[in-house]
Parts: sequence; structure tokens; C-alpha cells
Amino acid sequence: MNSASPETNPESPSIELALPDEAATLALGAQIGGGLGAGLQIHLRGDLGAGKTTLVRGLLRSLGWTARVKSPTYTLVEHYALSRLHLYHFDFYRFERPSEWLEAGLAEHFNTHAVCLVEWPERAGAALGSPDLDIELIVTGEARRARLRAGSEQGRTLLARCTARA
Ligand SMILES: Nc1ncnc2c1ncn2[C@@H]1O[C@H](COP(=O)(O)OP(=O)(O)OP(=O)(O)O)[C@@H](O)[C@H]1O
Ligand SMILES: [Mg+2]
Repeated sequence: MNSASPETNPESPSIELALPDEAATLALGAQIGGGLGAGLQIHLRGDLGAGKTTLVRGLLRSLGWTARVKSPTYTLVEHYALSRLHLYHFDFYRFERPSEWLEAGLAEHFNTHAVCLVEWPERAGAALGSPDLDIELIVTGEARRARLRAGSEQGRTLLARCTARA
């Protein structure tokens, strides 16, 4: 178990990938989607428009979700009941205080039965806890780069799935 979050722990295993276009972001999401299991928490960090929701869209499509994948910017959370797991996609961008997500009753979704994907996790403060996988998307001109860091053994397994295309 790690005491520090993977984004700040220099010992966390990490990889960096080039994402030259939107299709590459979708493909990375799909790669992660194939390795998901209940109880995982994944953080998605990066500027507005960096591609966080796009990655989640690729992930959901790979799990057979054919309906629309909406950004949870206004709803705060979107729930997906997939055949083999429940997935919650959060966006905490609009929160001004770290306690707001707790006051909104969102903590109940972070349990061992669900997969939680969180955009703007830094706005939720320390109570959110450390992720199994931290994904940082960096805008580089017209393209993106992804930096993935594992925060647990399950996170390492997900990282290994993505290493193949590094
Ligand atoms: N690798 C890529 N190269 C170029 N464009 C990309 C790439 N990945 C995603 N995009 C584009 O970036 C745009 C913004 O994507 P998206 O909505 O996923 O951002 P976001 O990080 O979720 O933003 P927000 O913080 O506002 O929710 C989309 O138009 C998408 O097509
Ligand atoms: Mg988004």
C-alpha cells in the first residue's frame, strides 16, 4: 500500500504515451477498459479540453456501451450499468470547496462494487483518497501526451496493459 498519491510519489511505476489524435485517446481508453475490475478508482487530470472525457468514451465503448457518453460537467456524475460492473464517471470541476462532493452525497459510490473515474479529482481534496491509476493528459500543440502512474497492484496491472503500445 502506498502512503503517497501516485502523482506525487516518485516511486510509483509510470509510463508516458504519445496520443497524436483523438483516435489514440479513444484507443488508450479501450485498452484500460479491457482490464477493469470492481473497486478501481481512476483519476483523470489535465486542462480543460485535454481529452479526459474522450478517454472515458473510448473506455465505455470498449465495454459495449453504445449509447451516448455525456460529460458529467453539469450533472457531476454519470452512472453506467454495464453487464459486468457499475461504472461512475465524475467531474468535480465546478466544486469550489473540497467538502462539496461529500455534501452532495457522492462518496457512497466509491465502494468495492463499482469502478469510479474522476475528472478534476484535485477539487475533491484528500478525502477522495489515492487512485489505483492516475492519468494525466497534457496538451502538446494539436496532440496530447498521457502520463500514467500506478498507485496499487491493480493499477500496475492496468499500466502493463498500456505498456504494450508505449
Ligand atoms: N490525442 C488527441 N489529440 C487531439 N485532440 C484530442 C485528443 N484527444 C482528445 N482530443 C480532443 O480534445 C477535445 C476535448 O476533449 P474532452 O472533452 O475529452 O476534454 P476534457 O479533458 O474532458 O475537458 P473538460 O475538463 O472540459 O471536461 C475533443 O474535441 C477531442 O476530440
Ligand atoms: Mg471532461
